[in-house]
Amino acid sequence: MKKTIVLLPGDGIGPEVTRAAAAILRETAQEFNHEFEFVELPLGGAAIDAKGTPLPNETLDACRKADAVFLGAVGGPKWDALPVGKRPESGLLGLRKGMGLHVNVRPVKLIEPLRGLSPLKKERLGDLDLEIVRELAGGMYFGERGNATESGVERAWDTESYSTPEIERIATFAFNRAENRSRRLCSVDKANVLTSSQLWRRTVTAMSSVYPSVKLEHLYVDNAAMQLTLRPSQFDVMLCSNMFGDILSDAAAALVGSIGLIPSASFGTAAPLFEPIHGSAPTLAGQDVANPIGSILSATMMLRDAFGLNLEADWIEQSLTRVLSGGYRTADLAEPGARTVGGSAFTEILREEMQRTFEHAERYGWGV
Ligand code: NAD
Ligand code: IPM
Ligand code: MN
Repeated sequence: MKKTIVLLPGDGIGPEVTRAAAAILRETAQEFNHEFEFVELPLGGAAIDAKGTPLPNETLDACRKADAVFLGAVGGPKWDALPVGKRPESGLLGLRKGMGLHVNVRPVKLIEPLRGLSPLKKERLGDLDLEIVRELAGGMYFGERGNATESGVERAWDTESYSTPEIERIATFAFNRAENRSRRLCSVDKANVLTSSQLWRRTVTAMSSVYPSVKLEHLYVDNAAMQLTLRPSQFDVMLCSNMFGDILSDAAAALVGSIGLIPSASFGTAAPLFEPIHGSAPTLAGQDVANPIGSILSATMMLRDAFGLNLEADWIEQSLTRVLSGGYRTADLAEPGARTVGGSAFTEILREEMQRTFEHAERYGWGV
């Protein structure tokens, strides 16, 4: 298989975790005889510094033409004084919009060897395995905004707005996802206060007759946040607006041990994009301590969901579980007695484990 993958390392720990994922993808290509061509381009703060804009045209053009796009993270204190629209984060939002990416899936699944890292007691944690389906191209992120000064008083506003087709588009994806999982869908809104949420709830409810096998429930976002913390295993697929999905996914990440573990995939009208959900973690940047797992799992999502390479993705994930079972940890996952290693050492240990698995499978067959 021949694929062109655009890499957007970005800022802070973005380049470190992107390097880790690319190394694993290279290893995969080599062992399975695929040809992955990597094209690296600037986005975010790195692009502001190099090209004067967070989303250069050539970056967006290459992403539109790619088979898949892989992103590290953007942002950092160096660019924090810039206004909305000129910041590194605006580059990411412009990219999502420009690539027509309206769906973002964030799987939050307990990795068994990391069970002890959860801030929740064992009984409450259960077998946490959920997916946050986040609307990615609308809502407050892209609504009307502005600021004005009246009689010496400054005011600023951002508008939450959704149309029926926008809601139907993301809800269709979430219903389908639920149909292929445990068939439980929880739609999150604030319909007791917001008119946009009332349309959201009405639209999702009207669609549920098309998916009779899916058990639909609605929760207000404040209760959803509480339920996530109290009993997260009640959830299968959670359908969220852009803003609510952003917030709840960081909260859900904490339940399985670290935000550094969680991958994501975004789909739309052009190439899909894969990125860990964490940010650029400026205080960790350049020290080789960042957890690369969220990034590596974003690469396995790319293999499965963009290229249909399920065996390859299983191979990486099984090897990763074995490395974690062996006690290897990055600093954010360190428990007493853990073998704490840096991000690049962790990636190298994973690569070696993948080699061992491969040799074993060549000799005895896959799945043995
Ligand atoms: P963050 O996700 O960067 O960091 C939150 C906390 O998690 C920090 O304590 C950080 O050290 C830790 N953390 C994050 N990723 C980690 C990893 N891989 N391994 C170990 N620990 C990790 O969020 P923040 O601090 O709110 O934001 C920092 C910058 O990142 C900001 O400029 C923000 O706008 C940007 N950001 C970018 C993205 C993205 O590019 N997708 C996402 C979120 C935030
Ligand atoms: C994320 C990030 C982004 C978001 C920011 C950096 C624009 O927090 O991907 O979760 O809010 O979508
Ligand atoms: Mn976020």
